[in-house]
Amino acid sequence: MNVVNEDLTLPALFNVEGKIAVVTGGASGIGAMIASAFVQNGATVYIASRKEKALKEFSDALNRRGPGKCYYVVADLGSKAGCDKLADAIKANESKIHILVNNSGNTWGAPYENVPEKEGWDRIMNLNVKSVFYLTVALTPLLAKDATNVDPGRVINVSSVASVMSNSLDSTLAAEGHGLWSYNTSKAAVNHLTTQLAATLAPKLITVNAILPGVFPSRMTSFGYKTQRDRMDASQPMSRTGTAQDMAGVVLFLASKAAAHMSGAKILLDGGLVASLTRPKL
Ligand SMILES: NC(=O)c1ccc[n+]([C@@H]2O[C@H](COP(=O)([O-])OP(=O)(O)OC[C@H]3O[C@@H](n4cnc5c(N)ncnc54)[C@H](OP(=O)(O)O)[C@@H]3O)[C@@H](O)[C@H]2O)c1
Ligand SMILES: *[C@@H]1O[C@H](CO)[C@@H](O)[C@H](O)[C@H]1NC(C)=O
Ligand SMILES: *[C@@H]1O[C@H](CO)[C@@H](O)[C@H](O)[C@H]1NC(C)=O
Ligand SMILES: *[C@@H]1O[C@H](CO)[C@@H](O)[C@H](O)[C@H]1NC(C)=O
Ligand SMILES: *[C@@H]1O[C@H](CO)[C@@H](O)[C@H](O)[C@H]1NC(C)=O
Repeated sequence: MNVVNEDLTLPALFNVEGKIAVVTGGASGIGAMIASAFVQNGATVYIASRKEKALKEFSDALNRRGPGKCYYVVADLGSKAGCDKLADAIKANESKIHILVNNSGNTWGAPYENVPEKEGWDRIMNLNVKSVFYLTVALTPLLAKDATNVDPGRVINVSSVASVMSNSLDSTLAAEGHGLWSYNTSKAAVNHLTTQLAATLAPKLITVNAILPGVFPSRMTSFGYKTQRDRMDASQPMSRTGTAQDMAGVVLFLASKAAAHMSGAKILLDGGLVASLTRPKL
């Protein structure tokens, strides 16, 4: 192998032009950052979530920006039926996809003695864990279609630093006296599902990796950004929270040839937050 003649330039490694991606929860927060990064670099993106108005407005805005394209599908991914419906809508238009970003997610904060069973646990585990599995299963044939061992299909799961955080004296994300037991547990499950799926899908030439974001602006964190922005920044090791460029950098890496040989990775994207915990869990 001649490493001098082999093409190691940025355009050869970091290219998503012409790729087809599915991004769940792609009209707001972290999903919107990811969808915009794909469209700005020439990919076609299908975004999917429950609220049609937000989906339409955001996909119209992305299509005005280009050069890639954005389509949307209205889907409630809290059930297997919802995941299958989304997969069918995509199959009606595409015979293959290259990238699945499993980003839709929800959280529920409540006092320890009073966590409601349905909203507090069942809905969170259904959306954050179960649907990731069923949507991946439903889209595996399309991901496998074009996959090779030098440019495999990609599954990217959005997990969270919450998956490795058990306690924090100063939580800016849950209300005073409230905890995120089900959310944190669901994200730890996402990490392990990522590992298992990486093993299951390697023979089909599909990689599965997870991003563990720290704090990023979104609907989920908007309360904190509105009420205590300064405190949120000050609580971060580098005195700031995450940005769209931070997210785009990692997603474009995971989706392009540069990451063709990476699978089962859990990538912390938190400005050193977990590394700075007094009792690190990773
Ligand atoms: N922001 C952070 O600091 C942070 C940190 C770590 C991890 N995360 C993770 O990042 C992901 C995105 O969250 P975000 O922070 O960007 O919050 P967000 O703005 O609230 O986005 C959540 C997305 O999930 C969609 N969604 C919720 N329930 C759904 C359902 N039943 N079916 C389909 N889609 C559904 C929402 O769209 P609809 O309402 O239209 O359905 C929305 O687009 C989540 O997995 C979250 O856990 C966020
Ligand atoms: C399929 O593609 C057409 C345009 O070619 C578009 O109008 C339609 O919305 C797409 N379907 C989905 C499910 O996005
Ligand atoms: C995809 O993965 C995320 C991150 O765990 C999860 O919150 C979401 O519910 C999963 N499922 C779908 C279909 O988006
Ligand atoms: C859950 O994770 C958050 C970080 O996202 C952390 O602040 C909190 O202490 C963790 N545990 C509980 C029970 O909320
Ligand atoms: C992560 O990605 C794989 C592939 O999409 C999926 O099967 C798995 O269920 C995802 N979710 C979690 C929770 O890891």
